[in-house]
Amino acid sequence: MKFHYLKKFIQHYLTATLIDVLHSPFVFDLYQNTIEKQKYHSKFKAIENCRTNLLKNVEIVSYYDLGAGSNLLSTETEKVVKDLAKAHLKPARIAQIIHQIVLKYKYKNIIELGTSLGITASYIATAIKENYPLEETNFTTIEGIHDVRKVALKQFETLELSKHVNSIEGSFNEKLDDVLNNYQSIDVFFVDGNHTYEATMDYFNKALPKAHNDSVFIFDDIYWSPGMTKAWEEIKQNNNVYQTVDLFFIGLVFFRTEQNRQHFKLRVF
Ligand SMILES: C[S@@+](CC[C@H](N)C(=O)[O-])C[C@H]1O[C@@H](n2cnc3c(N)ncnc32)[C@H](O)[C@@H]1O
Repeated sequence: MKFHYLKKFIQHYLTATLIDVLHSPFVFDLYQNTIEKQKYHSKFKAIENCRTNLLKNVEIVSYYDLGAGSNLLSTETEKVVKDLAKAHLKPARIAQIIHQIVLKYKYKNIIELGTSLGITASYIATAIKENYPLEETNFTTIEGIHDVRKVALKQFETLELSKHVNSIEGSFNEKLDDVLNNYQSIDVFFVDGNHTYEATMDYFNKALPKAHNDSVFIFDDIYWSPGMTKAWEEIKQNNNVYQTVDLFFIGLVFFRTEQNRQHFKLRVF
């Protein structure tokens, strides 16, 4: 697993397109406004303080592996919050890219699979709050583990974001169909849990009918395993997909029919 990840990391960095030779106006604009390292934003300070606190939090929660690490022998166990924070949370740089994308394109119909402790959800909700301070939110995030979701709810409260996130408890298999039924269309579909080929393709295929011309689907950890990379390559080849932007840590999928079919690899660090 580790070897696959390292090999793909080196390949990515050797083959990524340099921004000065990027010929797509849409991707160039996306890069300049959302991906290129932004100057420090003080608005992120509160979320990053929460992250720092989570990384020190010695509270014990019940935990059950529902994702790619699960197997028939997985049983309920206990975890310390700080260990979960180390293992689960996306680096600030990646969460901030997702924030900037939601902010720039004024996205509001959003689904996240895998809330964990709520850090990326807080970045998304902050962008929604900035764009639509008074509107009822249409951002749903799903988490399977009761105690983990409870910690996330506390973050949303501390950050005054509770009104801007619908948090749902349950397994993706149980909840996704119902959640999708409540959306006429989706602007952002962010898959950040259960990193197997089968599950990723299943979630993609379920959400695809709700995609519109300007939607973006975001897949985390596309090089985590050969199975995830296989899913990513298959998604890129899907007839409905027009552009993809591979940032190694996450993959962005666009459906913009007015642009040529093109696949980009860009560096973020
Ligand atoms: C990598 S973490 C998400 C991190 C979070 N998006 C962030 O960036 O702050 C993945 C989460 O998905 C949850 N999860 C994994 N598989 C699941 C499933 N099948 N149903 C429900 N939750 C699941 C895990 O419990 C875990 O909390």
